Amino acid sequence: MATSKPQFLANDAIASDVYEGLTASPKHLPAKLFYDTTGSQLFEQITELPAYYLTRTERSILEEHASQILRQAGSALTLVELGAGTATKTRILIEELLRQQPRALFYPIDVSPSALDQAAWQLGNEFPGLRVNSIVADYTGGVPALSRIVGRKLVLYIGSSIGNFEPPHAIRILRRIRQTLRPGDALLLGADYAKSPKILLPAYDDALGVTSAFNKNMLARLNRELDADFDLEAFKHVALWNRRCSRVEIYLESLADQSVFLPTLDLDVRFRAGERMHTENSYKYTMGMIESILRESGFMLEQTWQDRQNWFGVHLARV
Ligand code: TRP
Repeated sequence: MATSKPQFLANDAIASDVYEGLTASPKHLPAKLFYDTTGSQLFEQITELPAYYLTRTERSILEEHASQILRQAGSALTLVELGAGTATKTRILIEELLRQQPRALFYPIDVSPSALDQAAWQLGNEFPGLRVNSIVADYTGGVPALSRIVGRKLVLYIGSSIGNFEPPHAIRILRRIRQTLRPGDALLLGADYAKSPKILLPAYDDALGVTSAFNKNMLARLNRELDADFDLEAFKHVALWNRRCSRVEIYLESLADQSVFLPTLDLDVRFRAGERMHTENSYKYTMGMIESILRESGFMLEQTWQDRQNWFGVHLARV
């Protein structure tokens, strides 16, 4: 008798994605598993690690050039932010914007209502001239509500999140956003540059083990939420630089021949010693790649700001 793939409840998106990933060859796990409460806290810690240069480098670029970035974007701006989270770096731009204009609207978009509530509450308190209208949405499918916003929009897509998508997917995401904008609107895109693996790899495999804990939290989460019995000690965090594809690849590697049982999925998964399970990619862009994804999604690159070491770039593009 043929065995068929089990059916999961429609709302249990995690279960069916995990089943698909663990029965695939090579195995993989969906990156969206990273960001539960524990994972979000661990990622917050990653952004403060000395080895994770991305966050502080982007922040320093925004601090140094906020005034010029906003003037270049245009007057009477309304800010939109894709994947805003708690919008911590955004306050640099908001503060400067409110020096250039007395009032502003800010539309943070995120899948996490709790992060948005926190952002709205803090920013509303801190900046009396700011009105915050949160949008709970997955921006990757486009956000139709954006087309109803009147006035000139500057869409912030910072934090290098673009790098976590395959370039063709990144283009589709930007194109969907572009469809809700009007001529004169702008996009501010933060992206990490391709560079030596001596700098890249420690950012994804730090000496303190925070990144390893962040990656392994996926397994801990499967233990908590799907009743799985992953032994976290029996897997190792691995980060590799794939120069041909210009990306850092993140894996969990099995340290032994072992099998793991996921009762909720009625699934027994065997791992060989040394077998790697893929969890995430982080694409690192060259200037040529930036220009091309912007062009292919209907934007025109207007200006780039970067740090002195050229590690990270913030790009203003126009519809
Ligand atoms: N957007 C982050 C990045 O690509 C996500 C990230 C940081 C990450 N450290 C990680 C993903 C470690 C997986 C493993 O830089």
